Amino acid sequence: MSKHVESLRAIFKKIASGENPQDLKEEIKSILREIPPAEFGEAENALLEDGLAPENLRHLCTAHIEIMDEQNQSSKPPVGHLVRTFMDEHDEILHFLDLLETINQKIQKAETKGDIAEEDKRALIDISSKLEGAEPHHKREEEVLFPAMEENGVYGPPEMMRIEHVDLRVNKQALLEVANKLEEMDFKNFKDESQKYAEFIIFNLRDHIFKENNILYPTALEALTDEAIWQDLKNKCDEIGYCSFTKSH
Ligand SMILES: [Fe+2]
Ligand SMILES: [Fe+2]
Repeated sequence: MSKHVESLRAIFKKIASGENPQDLKEEIKSILREIPPAEFGEAENALLEDGLAPENLRHLCTAHIEIMDEQNQSSKPPVGHLVRTFMDEHDEILHFLDLLETINQKIQKAETKGDIAEEDKRALIDISSKLEGAEPHHKREEEVLFPAMEENGVYGPPEMMRIEHVDLRVNKQALLEVANKLEEMDFKNFKDESQKYAEFIIFNLRDHIFKENNILYPTALEALTDEAIWQDLKNKCDEIGYCSFTKSH
């Protein structure tokens, strides 16, 4: 068995014994950057043979997606372009999802409300509000970028993304509500609800962002070639406004 596969097995043993996958993500990524594609299937099989729960295999997928996204960063449009703003906002949202994953793990391990640190309770509310506060981002996509793509004959990807926004919106609102009800809810119920909404959002929003960064935005950049159109779209985005976490636009 190759040293790459052995190193991955060692990391996933740590995850199985309770270590935070977030702390190990950089290690996983550094192995994935070096692993020859032919060994990747061997690695997955070895991990499954070790008894790795299939849901833990997603840490491998997440690391993989992030590496592909890093390679894609070099093709970002310049600052000020509305697609660049969308992609930079995605980076922030991905960071919130990492934090949410860590906090949710702590919640799931807690046996009573008292086991959850005050700062984690506040962080859960803060992250849930920030995710919910990404609404201007989705609104700019739905009201400015998607219609412009459709006017230029691209129908499929915007329609798929619209449908995903609907499900994500429902789950983000539900998570924020639960986050604010910790004190009044039965703890078992609180844990189950947090798990349900956090899991949905973490998995599906990462996936949504990956599809937009790698399929939808490149398609838009290819379909809309007139600079004047982009300027007009940017003005419309400015009218809708930005998120509290938007760094520049
Ligand atoms: Fe979107
Ligand atoms: Fe987006």
